[in-house]
Amino acid sequence: MSDGSVREAFRSTFGRAAEGLVRAPGRVNLIGEHTDYNDGFVLPIAIERRTLGAWARRGDRAVRFVSRQATEAAEVRLDAPIRPAKPAWANYCRGVAAGLAARGVPLVGADVLFDSDVPLGGGLSSSASLEVAAALALLAAAGAADAVPPGELARLCQKAEHDFAGAPCGIMDQSIALLARAGQALLLDCRSGESRYVPFDDPAAVLLVVDTQVKHDIADGGYAARRAQCHAAAAALGAAALRDVDEAAVAAAGAAGRLAGKELMRARHVVGEIARTLAGVEALAAGQLGRFGELMYASHASLRDDYEVSCQELDAVVELARRCKGVHGARMTGGGFGGCAIILADAARAEAVGRAVADGFEKRFSRRCPVFATRAAAGAEVLP
Ligand code: GLA
Repeated sequence: MSDGSVREAFRSTFGRAAEGLVRAPGRVNLIGEHTDYNDGFVLPIAIERRTLGAWARRGDRAVRFVSRQATEAAEVRLDAPIRPAKPAWANYCRGVAAGLAARGVPLVGADVLFDSDVPLGGGLSSSASLEVAAALALLAAAGAADAVPPGELARLCQKAEHDFAGAPCGIMDQSIALLARAGQALLLDCRSGESRYVPFDDPAAVLLVVDTQVKHDIADGGYAARRAQCHAAAAALGAAALRDVDEAAVAAAGAAGRLAGKELMRARHVVGEIARTLAGVEALAAGQLGRFGELMYASHASLRDDYEVSCQELDAVVELARRCKGVHGARMTGGGFGGCAIILADAARAEAVGRAVADGFEKRFSRRCPVFATRAAAGAEVLP
């Protein structure tokens, strides 16, 4: 997939040239999992996998969406209320169009064609990259590329996912797709929306992404249940959000019986994970990859045992990685219940590590898992 092949596909689909291209990346989260909807901190990077969108205006009030990853096209009429409909994949785009229209962006009719190498439903935020690509294409077609500031656009895309796809996601994925910078991770405060960049470009290390190919869907209930348990735990602690609580308070509430069972487990994960994220930023800033790796392992264990969002394939990847020479750390990344794990490895050993993990995975599950290396890539952009 390249800019040229997407332009070519646009031409053969719509019989005319695209006027412009947009690009929006997928992501992995280095650490800070299931903290965004608890007002906490996250530390994602954009990856080199991305969704491309080619667009051209039409003379009428229709927007047609086509995806090379889907068989059915979708049409949205700009002069009627925009609602969720079939095909389901285009609901991310419909939701974004509805949000932009509600905000008063003067949308125009357009044809939009997407192509993506972000695995769908693979935990790398294929949906956020589609939302952001759709938003940038519609804005560019309307001649309003800079009309909505990135923080607001991230919230608009998040709302599209809530209202049109039924997925109650946090703000991390859309934010990193829009705000990422090459060679940098993004420390995002999900309460204030403030962020800062943390260099993630040490040439001595490589980040491997291992796709278990176990599909997950954050609209299927497990994610929403975690959210509800976190909010119940915060209420039991008398806090607005788990962000406002520390590890000692959770332990004390557990000992006193004010917090128990799943709510205690969820709170312990979130509060510990926020602390690990901030410690991770310090470790990266000091160039302490070993220390960062220990935090990754601890994050994974907490997601597996207290948050219960890992699965045997993700656990196996982390354990296989831990046994390899030259690995600093590994953990599941994203919402969980499947999807991808990440491994931070010495650059000189990365290839061998990838092979060993894929071999071990195949022995255990009788199929190979794709492994690829990624750098911290740039955020979404409108290309001329
Ligand atoms: C999914 C959601 C994010 C975030 C992660 C878990 O990717 O879309 O908002 O909650 O899960 O950290």
